[in-house]
Amino acid sequence: MALFSFLKGPKSNPSLPLSLASLESDWHCHVLPGIDDGCQNEAQSLEMLLCYTAMGIKKIVATPHVRADFYKNTHTTISAAFQKVQHLIQTHNLPLLMEASAEYYADENFFQLITENQLMPIDNQYILFELPMQNPGLWGTKMIEMLQKKGYTPLLAHPERYRYWHNKPQEWSLWKNTGVCFQLNLLSLTGYYGAAERRAAEQLLEADYIDAVGTDAHGVRHLQKLNELTQNSLFDNLQQLPLLNRLG
Ligand SMILES: [Fe+2]
Repeated sequence: MALFSFLKGPKSNPSLPLSLASLESDWHCHVLPGIDDGCQNEAQSLEMLLCYTAMGIKKIVATPHVRADFYKNTHTTISAAFQKVQHLIQTHNLPLLMEASAEYYADENFFQLITENQLMPIDNQYILFELPMQNPGLWGTKMIEMLQKKGYTPLLAHPERYRYWHNKPQEWSLWKNTGVCFQLNLLSLTGYYGAAERRAAEQLLEADYIDAVGTDAHGVRHLQKLNELTQNSLFDNLQQLPLLNRLG
């Protein structure tokens, strides 16, 4: 399979996947098949699993989209897709741990899930959520309050990608001060989402605001793109941080 030529070793392909062994786990990815805009089938999930193994990742937190408009995922749909990936791991004897969670979009459906205790936290504690890309919306403060009242720690996905905050770093401080944790997308440091996102990612790292990192990979193409991380000197610093990604 041509896609896996990089797994055969340096002789067949000099561009081996980047080692992410120091990070130990990926806290944000779309590896579950057929339930969002990530992997569409089990073959694509397997490609990702093999790549993760080659990268030295030990644990993957599957975080499919949960949003009322496009991806109405529930415990049931996520658990069913999760079982398929667990089966792939067992069948192919891969040294990977998996956890099923979600990336919640800040909409009314999210409020309902919080109210009804229907959330799927990471490590029984962290709720990964994302904001709209165009504007922060009206829900932020209330949502954080509700999550914290339930004993959860809100974990904001890719804060560097919200352009409405790029010239307002004080907004980042406000969120951090309310007890929200930040999850950085590794690809942001490569400039994959744009130069402004890369700059924001670097500013967040320099401010010591990053608590966890994730690939936000929707397929093996995103994992392969991570090779470009070696061109950013901050990647070395990032690997030294006491990130939530480390297994206890
Ligand atoms: Fe995502």
